[in-house]
This record gives sequence, C-alpha cells and structure tokens, in this order.
Amino acid sequence: MDDTFTPVLAVADLPEGAMTAVMVGGRRVLLVRVDGGVRAYDNRCPHRAWPLERGTLAAGVLTCANHRYTFDVATGRGIEPGDCHLVALPCRVESGTVEVAAGG
Ligand code: FES
Repeated sequence: MDDTFTPVLAVADLPEGAMTAVMVGGRRVLLVRVDGGVRAYDNRCPHRAWPLERGTLAAGVLTCANHRYTFDVATGRGIEPGDCHLVALPCRVESGTVEVAAGG
C-alpha cells in the first residue's frame, strides 16, 4: 500500500463538526473535523457503498443517508449496527494543511 501523504485542503477550511468529500489519487475520501483533529475515511458506506457525504453529521455521529446506519466519526466505529465500521485512512495536519495517504 502506498503511504505517500497528499495535501488536500487547508485545515482552516474544515470547521469543527464539519465534513467534506475530496478526491485523493482517484479515491473518494471523506474528511471530518472532530475533537479538534481531522479524520479521513473511505467515502463509501461500509454497508452498500453509498457516498457518506450525503449523510448527516451531528454531535460526532454520522448517519448514512441510505439505510441510516450510524458511525462514530472520532473512531470510525459502527454504532448501529455495532459491527459495521468506517474504513480509516492515514491522515495528518502539516503546517495547516490536511494530508491524506489514500493508498495506491
Ligand atoms: S449504504 Fe449506508 S447504511 Fe446502507
């Protein structure tokens, strides 16, 4: 797996509690600002691959717009059901820029 980090956006452009979809190396990635940090996830629901940015994010809980599965965006863990988790990608903030390693 390619662990090269790619700069994708200024962290200032992603307010706390917000999410946005970006493309990184041809892969759809969901970025979420939570607990002062940034998390990156594969932007496909682990249930049936629905684009997660079409869901809603409130109080750290992402609800998929398709079948209403819910996820804790701080950890990626499934809430309901509890055995369906988001796919996390390596993510960091360097000099105010969010960088993601989306794999090769
Ligand atoms: S596709 Fe997301 S809950 Fe089914």
